[in-house]
Amino acid sequence: MQQQLEELGREARLQIENAASPEELKEIKVRFLGKKGELTAILRGLGTIPSEQRPAVGRQANDLRTLLEEVIEQREHALRDLSRSNQWEKERIDVTLPGRPVSMGQKHPLTLITDEIKEIFVGLGFQVAHGPDIETDYYNYEALNFPADHPARDMQDSFYLTEKYLLRTHTSPVQVRAMEKKAPRLPVRIIAPGKVFRRDDDATHSPMFHQIEGLAVDKDITFADLKGTLLTFVRQMFGPEQKIRLRPSFFPFTEPSAEVDILCVMCKGKGCRVCSDTGWLEILGAGMVHPHVLSVSGYDPREVTGFAFGMGVERIAMLKYGIGDLRHFFTNDLRFLKQFG
Ligand code: DAH
Repeated sequence: MQQQLEELGREARLQIENAASPEELKEIKVRFLGKKGELTAILRGLGTIPSEQRPAVGRQANDLRTLLEEVIEQREHALRDLSRSNQWEKERIDVTLPGRPVSMGQKHPLTLITDEIKEIFVGLGFQVAHGPDIETDYYNYEALNFPADHPARDMQDSFYLTEKYLLRTHTSPVQVRAMEKKAPRLPVRIIAPGKVFRRDDDATHSPMFHQIEGLAVDKDITFADLKGTLLTFVRQMFGPEQKIRLRPSFFPFTEPSAEVDILCVMCKGKGCRVCSDTGWLEILGAGMVHPHVLSVSGYDPREVTGFAFGMGVERIAMLKYGIGDLRHFFTNDLRFLKQFG
């Protein structure tokens, strides 16, 4: 019996020391110390052994029970510590690692140019106005004096959504919208940046591009005001040495109309490949607001006059930064975009 107890003790301690989880430990405890456990069975069987051996064996069995309970408790603590340190190991934050750099975004070159142009005109007393990208045939063409059979009104040239709605082909409709809002108060001085859409797509044309419209309406506004305003703009944008040249042109919503050139940004007027040896580069269209446009917008053309101009933002950005292909603006290549701002 004594030998049996010793063996049981050895076996139980071995199992306890090797228990890998609290659950396993619990099973071992039940196996040896539970109601139907092996040690319990021996204690129950004490009655069958000779009475003179009983006290010694009983003490031995009780001591073993106490010992095993202690060993189990120690193992419980050890397992708890182990699982805690495993947890820490998993969740450990290495505070010595270098930080991950936060990469800063920056403005798109077209946004930079738009901001710069807006700032120049705001300095001259213009206010920023906006119009919708989806425009009606009325604002995009009719109010701007485009005749019914003008080729630009053809379904093939513009993005029509319905017969009445289209994606605006220029920012000029904002002229009419701004005047309608302000009429009959004076002066009107607005600058209107935004997206425009045309059915074109190649190295120098994109189906979506950006324009900035300008409009000034007041008593006694003359062509000289237009010229002075544009020269001031061009010198701030491209440098104090700049010059402008106005060539007669035609737009349905201005009379007279002009196309405006600046000195070639590459050769400064000497003549080179970029300007086809002319020394000049076209940058915008302009003119005196047509009486029809004034009157449909709520102003009396016998009392007020105005000038207007419209420029392409991509074209200005290409000239200012020396960019050869317009498609760079829209392909989102960071190697290109990161060079600005
Ligand atoms: N809207 C014209 C275009 O997209 C540009 C333009 C020309 C605007 C003359 C004007 C202007 O305001 O006076 O081609």
